Amino acid sequence: MKFELQNINKTFGETQILKNISLQVDRRDIVALIGKSGSGKSTLLKCINLLEIPDSGCIILDDTKIDFSNLQNIKSANPTEIRKKIGMVFQQFHLWPHLTILQNLIKAPIHVLKITKEDAIIEAKILLAKFGLLDKINGYPAELSGGGQQRIAIARTLMMHPEIILFDEPTSALDPIMTQEVSKIIKNLASDGMTVIVSTHEIHFARDVANRAIFIEHGEVVENGYAHDILFHPKTQKLQNFLTNV
Ligand SMILES: Nc1ncnc2c1ncn2[C@@H]1O[C@H](COP(=O)(O)OP(=O)(O)OP(=O)(O)O)[C@@H](O)[C@H]1O
Ligand SMILES: [Mg+2]
Repeated sequence: MKFELQNINKTFGETQILKNISLQVDRRDIVALIGKSGSGKSTLLKCINLLEIPDSGCIILDDTKIDFSNLQNIKSANPTEIRKKIGMVFQQFHLWPHLTILQNLIKAPIHVLKITKEDAIIEAKILLAKFGLLDKINGYPAELSGGGQQRIAIARTLMMHPEIILFDEPTSALDPIMTQEVSKIIKNLASDGMTVIVSTHEIHFARDVANRAIFIEHGEVVENGYAHDILFHPKTQKLQNFLTNV
């Protein structure tokens, strides 16, 4: 697996939200994306997943390279291939409220990956059993706790067999015990071979889970490197201030 961002820029209206963001990640990395509210974390994750289209810069995933300076190239580079390989777990989960848990899990793999309904159901049951939610298979999202809904959102993403999984603030609604559970789940994903990029405000969580970290401020990378260096030995005053104030 090869994944790289090169000089990603994104503007909303008059405001440049992301400025020349570059990042290289390896298979099994867990990258903590940290920064103040409004620094551009969610926007960066959306750009990685092509939910937002960067104004310029490149995304490289395995053999696919998309250069956003060249719109023609975006079509020929087939963004669907990138979208299929990169899953995202949203902060608000975005489960379909009118579908059962099972239907939430099997819908996309049947339509997008074209697997049979039977196979999708088997896989969904395996994942639900793994997350301790098999008994909820015919229930609806609203019947689950926040932590339960989050595990369903993770399972739904895993049904697509992504190479990279993005988490936007996965612990913001969770108590400390559930936060530890999410740490465990993320570490297991990485040891299963996935690459994880996780935006977070919570430095304890980042220190526990990440091997790499990137700190952004006003859409710019301030520090990027090994989690231990970034989260324990910040070089810049900006990161030192951030770490003492969170
Ligand atoms: N669709 C949009 N249109 C216009 N401005 C946007 C849009 N999405 C985000 N922004 C702006 O971009 C900036 C970065 O927002 P973003 O949500 O990426 O920050 P964040 O780091 O995820 O913040 P938080 O920690 O609060 O989630 C903010 O100023 C926000 O208002
Ligand atoms: Mg955000």
